[in-house]
Amino acid sequence: MSLARADAEALDATDPLARFRDEFELPKGLIYLDGNSLGPPPKAVAARLADVVGGEWGRDLIRSWNLNGWMDAPLRTGGKIAALIGAAPHEVAVADSTTVNLFKLAAGALSLRPGRKVLLTPADNFPTDVYALEGLAGMVPGLELRIAEPERLVEAIDEATAAVVLTHVHYKTSLRWDLSEVTAAAHAKGALALWDLSHSVGALAVDLSLAKADLAVGCGYKYLNGGPGAPAFLFVAERHQAQIRSPLTGWMGHAEPFAFEGHYRPAPDIRAQVSGTPSVLGLAALEAGLDLQLQADPAQVEAKGLALAELFISLVEQRCAGHGLALLGPRESTRRGLHVSYAHPDGYALVQALIARGVIGDFRAPDVARFGFSPLYLSHAQVWDAVEILRDILETRAFDRADYRQRAAVT
Ligand SMILES: Cc1ncc(COP(=O)(O)O)c(C=O)c1O
Repeated sequence: MSLARADAEALDATDPLARFRDEFELPKGLIYLDGNSLGPPPKAVAARLADVVGGEWGRDLIRSWNLNGWMDAPLRTGGKIAALIGAAPHEVAVADSTTVNLFKLAAGALSLRPGRKVLLTPADNFPTDVYALEGLAGMVPGLELRIAEPERLVEAIDEATAAVVLTHVHYKTSLRWDLSEVTAAAHAKGALALWDLSHSVGALAVDLSLAKADLAVGCGYKYLNGGPGAPAFLFVAERHQAQIRSPLTGWMGHAEPFAFEGHYRPAPDIRAQVSGTPSVLGLAALEAGLDLQLQADPAQVEAKGLALAELFISLVEQRCAGHGLALLGPRESTRRGLHVSYAHPDGYALVQALIARGVIGDFRAPDVARFGFSPLYLSHAQVWDAVEILRDILETRAFDRADYRQRAAVT
């Protein structure tokens, strides 16, 4: 059955999340399909930042660390993220970047499994995850970084494995691993599971407690709309907090930072994972985004995001067939995240042509056009319009221009 724009409009009329659209700064007429890479600013962020800069920093100056909750921001903000990933508030902290947190927790996993000398990750994991593990393997004598083909990952877990490190939703294909299944498979061999939730947090209704996950990290600037380079988060299950050791033993993770003791003594809780001085401005922007996100029911967020992605896939099948687009990843929504990617021989030029027509997606080498369906500000009608523009560009070959093939540094 072919879908008309009126069908999409009908879905918008009963969308329980429709009111959130007005809470974002987004240029009129633009269809933003890149919130999975950099979310747009929630309107509340500008006012919040002005307050932190003018009021807190400008007026209260250094007293703000105590007066205005700056010191507590990593754990307070972590507690808000906890509500989105099925964790207890004291199991999550916000600090550093995803890369740094992944490094810290992968090293932490080794401290929780002494004697085990293998970290296992899928070959197609996000590059920074693999690179960070390579760096760690280069520093720890005897540590093996075992890289498995994704289909063979679970069977590659063995009694030498300290941790399996993998991304819940794949950054290109959108393939979603089963959190509970893989975690249980790791536990069956005495190993831990360290999840990268960068493409899940704020998108899917993740439940780390239900999955009995051990460790996790994730980005603040994608679906959480925390702003470019927003601080990232990390999760350590309560049962591991007393034993885990961070390789970055900075003063902010000390049991008493302002005792200025001569030697490191870890905080007994998640604070031990906060290595240095918190990035207050970044945290303030992220927290304002989280306060908005927390007003939405995570189950509704997931349901709408998957519905938007499914609508996009169905419309592309109906209207863009025969133009060389090959869907990556599984077809079923239950095995996907909220972004949809297609390989296309002219993928880069295609994305540039779409941007020129007001539809922003992104490109991932070597040939992938990727579109993210962030549920808080996108409508079903916008998805319909985006596919119509895509169809027109494909049929007219409007992408076939030399200037659209000039690659920028960031794709
Ligand atoms: C799965 C995944 N992990 C990590 C990152 C980025 O990490 P960082 O914020 O440290 O650059 C990304 C960025 O897109 C990602 O997709």
